[in-house]
Amino acid sequence: MDEVRVCLAGATGQIGRRLVPAILEAADLKLVSAVARRAAGSDLGLVLGGASLGITLQADVAGALAHTPADVLIDYTHPTAVRAHVRAALAGGVAVVVGTSGLKADDFPEIAAQATAAGVGVATGNFSLTAALLQHLAKIAARHVPEWEIVEYNKAAKPDVPSGTAGELAEMLGAVRRPQPAVADTHPIGPHDEARGADVAGTRVHSVRLSGFASACEVIFGMPGERLSLRQDCAESAEPFVFGTLFAARRVVIQPGLHRGLDSLLFGPVET
Ligand SMILES: NC(=O)c1ccc[n+]([C@@H]2O[C@H](COP(=O)([O-])OP(=O)(O)OC[C@H]3O[C@@H](n4cnc5c(N)ncnc54)[C@H](OP(=O)(O)O)[C@@H]3O)[C@@H](O)[C@H]2O)c1
Repeated sequence: MDEVRVCLAGATGQIGRRLVPAILEAADLKLVSAVARRAAGSDLGLVLGGASLGITLQADVAGALAHTPADVLIDYTHPTAVRAHVRAALAGGVAVVVGTSGLKADDFPEIAAQATAAGVGVATGNFSLTAALLQHLAKIAARHVPEWEIVEYNKAAKPDVPSGTAGELAEMLGAVRRPQPAVADTHPIGPHDEARGADVAGTRVHSVRLSGFASACEVIFGMPGERLSLRQDCAESAEPFVFGTLFAARRVVIQPGLHRGLDSLLFGPVET
């Protein structure tokens, strides 16, 4: 494939508007269509405050893909819309990079089956390089250290809990092995057991939502007399997600099936 044709959903959003120039600058990618509801019908370049790009924003993903053939959908929209977008793309044999958070563990078997049937790839997860490193290194640590918990910190307005990054990390670690539960969890005493955090695939996950935070995810591994903390911090910027998103777009068009986590595309599986 000489040039990968990209449909970008959420092109006027915080992440999407940063991806537009990155896609335009990439010699092997071609931005063929873009989706956002409020500016639908307008020229994407003019909406973003630049010169006309000759790409008219479409109101919905299915319509955009039906109107203009694409090889890959990059989706940075909203948790309430992402499932329908993935389904629409796969129904048309279009690969997907799912940047949008909000997919649940139950969604993945269906997505994996659809992607395999369509012969295209779907990549999900946090697309920052350092988040991918956090996942990769945490999977290695989980092979050796028996106890861990995750704490994620995000801005007060972030609606999905736990964050996609933390939830996915818990599930990835759960696939390595179940963490050893804290002895105190067998007989908790106190009026608020929920203070121990949510149980995600066996891992306790604690979500902090406070003004002053952008985004951070920390996994703390413990064993008698020693502790290891792996933490990724991200500023409120689209920059960290550009490289990983475009890397995944290039890979999903040639690697069919579901790829959960940029780390699996970058570093391959961790031996368990
Ligand atoms: N995976 C990662 O590494 C990563 C990194 C950063 C962010 N995210 C996630 O990516 C998503 C987008 O983040 P953001 O900060 O860019 O959000 P944002 O600034 O609110 O932008 C959302 C974009 O999607 C469009 N949109 C929203 N709902 C839509 C729908 N139903 N159909 C079509 N377009 C729709 C919006 O335009 P209209 O409202 O006009 O339609 C806008 O262009 C969030 O879920 C966020 O958590 C993931």
